[in-house]
Amino acid sequence: MSVNPQRETWFRAPGRVNLIGDHTDYNEGFVLPVAIDLACTVRSRPREDGVVRVTSQDAEGVIELAADGSTLPRAVDEVWGRYAAGVVGTLAERGRPPVGIDAVVSSTIPLGAGLSSSAALEVALALALCDAAEFELPQLELALACQAAEQVATGVPCGIMDQLTSLAGKHNHALLIDCQSLEITPIRLPPGLAVLILHSGTSRALVDSAYAERREACESLAALLGVTSLREATPEQVADEPRGRHVVSENARVLEAARALEAGDVDTLGALLNESHQSLRDDFEVSTPELDALVEALREAGAVGARLTGAGFGGCVVGVADRSVAERIVETAAGRYWASSGHQPRAYVFRGVDGAERIPAQAAP
Ligand code: GLA
Repeated sequence: MSVNPQRETWFRAPGRVNLIGDHTDYNEGFVLPVAIDLACTVRSRPREDGVVRVTSQDAEGVIELAADGSTLPRAVDEVWGRYAAGVVGTLAERGRPPVGIDAVVSSTIPLGAGLSSSAALEVALALALCDAAEFELPQLELALACQAAEQVATGVPCGIMDQLTSLAGKHNHALLIDCQSLEITPIRLPPGLAVLILHSGTSRALVDSAYAERREACESLAALLGVTSLREATPEQVADEPRGRHVVSENARVLEAARALEAGDVDTLGALLNESHQSLRDDFEVSTPELDALVEALREAGAVGARLTGAGFGGCVVGVADRSVAERIVETAAGRYWASSGHQPRAYVFRGVDGAERIPAQAAP
């Protein structure tokens, strides 16, 4: 197909924080993430020679890939380039014509923080690749292609939450996602509510093998119980199984949290966040001393509730508080945590933002 190499486009895809519902997506359960105001941006132009050439403003290296998807992610040296190879490959499998692009990536999402920097990269690049080839996929198909790209790039059998949130995010809303039907229900964030995020300053360690091990344990338990996924298990069935107990109780907490948000009941929401952290720490065993300390610091500073967010083993914690005291709470908590742990945390206060979109060149960073 003929392409116009002068046609420059910009796409922006946000990161996400998960308010509640971790390690539930791959168990066909419920999650309640929020797309956040940190994003990956891809500037690109079509090429006529069937090569996808990607550079990054934040990392070394020039990635050159065959636009037909034949470059395997593991053949790419740069870790970030493997995500690009994954996306080109999974889009080719879905019929994208092999049109090349020149792309420059830049991101404001900290790496390894559990805020889905890689999902945002996959989504922004996928939109640029589809646009250059005048190829369209429905939102859900695009999310599934990006999830598959993450899996082939990293070998981690991740769920659908991160990529779907980056695509479907909604201004001032959290997304209640049913990971069985993949139905998305936006839930408005009460105007007075602040979503606080503190990065522990420790990158996610050991997460790849532990994540796969947790997923495997959940699937084995489901098979043992004779259910298709832990979504179908009852509290009684998993009463003596810590991993299953986490998943079943977390699903119930997500639904209750969505109801509390709708009702503007921040106290109930906070209590659910606290219970979620306890369950992730004691039953699912994905917390670390640093995450526990940061959650504690947030609560002591006045957050109504707090929990680790994402896969665990480092990265961020999320808390909720009244907007009027949010800045003071994160400052106090960050100071206390820094003094006791020696790690300097980074703090953010967010509202939900819209999902991935084309941006006009003049609005680009
Ligand atoms: C990572 C995965 C998600 C999800 C979370 C844990 O972010 O990419 O699919 O499983 O961990 O909730």
